[in-house]
Amino acid sequence: MSLRFRRMHPEDLDRVWAIEQAAFTDPWTRDMLAAELQPDYFRHPIVLEMHNRVEGYALLWVFDDEIYLNNIAINPENQRKGLGLKFLNYIFERFRSGGILHLEVRPSNKAAVQLYSRCGFAPVGIRRGYYSDGEDALIMQKELE
Ligand SMILES: CC(C)(COP(=O)(O)OP(=O)(O)OC[C@H]1O[C@@H](n2cnc3c(N)ncnc32)[C@H](O)[C@@H]1OP(=O)(O)O)[C@@H](O)C(=O)NCCC(=O)NCCS
Repeated sequence: MSLRFRRMHPEDLDRVWAIEQAAFTDPWTRDMLAAELQPDYFRHPIVLEMHNRVEGYALLWVFDDEIYLNNIAINPENQRKGLGLKFLNYIFERFRSGGILHLEVRPSNKAAVQLYSRCGFAPVGIRRGYYSDGEDALIMQKELE
């Protein structure tokens, strides 16, 4: 498998948006994704290319040692092939700082909860009614060594 992680560019937006719509029942809008391309120092939009085609992305905000994983998705056609796990391991390596990686996830999203638990994220709280359909968010954190 030929894999490459790199910064997301404006030319990637259409492909990322297509994956976003295929991967989520409540996708971000194209404008929300485009905002992550703004050159603010804290935004780290990253894509995963397999054989030179974008197959996943992760959108992070990094404030010193507080890191927020705001979005991550793998193209449904290539899920369950180890790409999500590889992406998280890349993030752990790239942002290793002694900091904390934070995320929110739907408790009903078994694939993601299972993946995060397997990677050492611990549940630390609940945000009641966080999602637009009223589902709570499970807050998870992992210390980066
Ligand atoms: C969550 C997501 C990123 C996982 O990516 P992936 O490439 O499919 O995951 P991997 O193949 O690396 O799976 C690694 C491990 O995660 C767990 N996992 C992944 N998908 C799973 C599923 N559908 N059901 C149960 N466990 C799952 C398993 O432990 C798996 O290991 P295994 O295949 O040896 O059993 C992917 O399912 C996705 O893009 N989902 C839609 C978007 C989303 O929900 N993002 C997270 C928002 S918080």
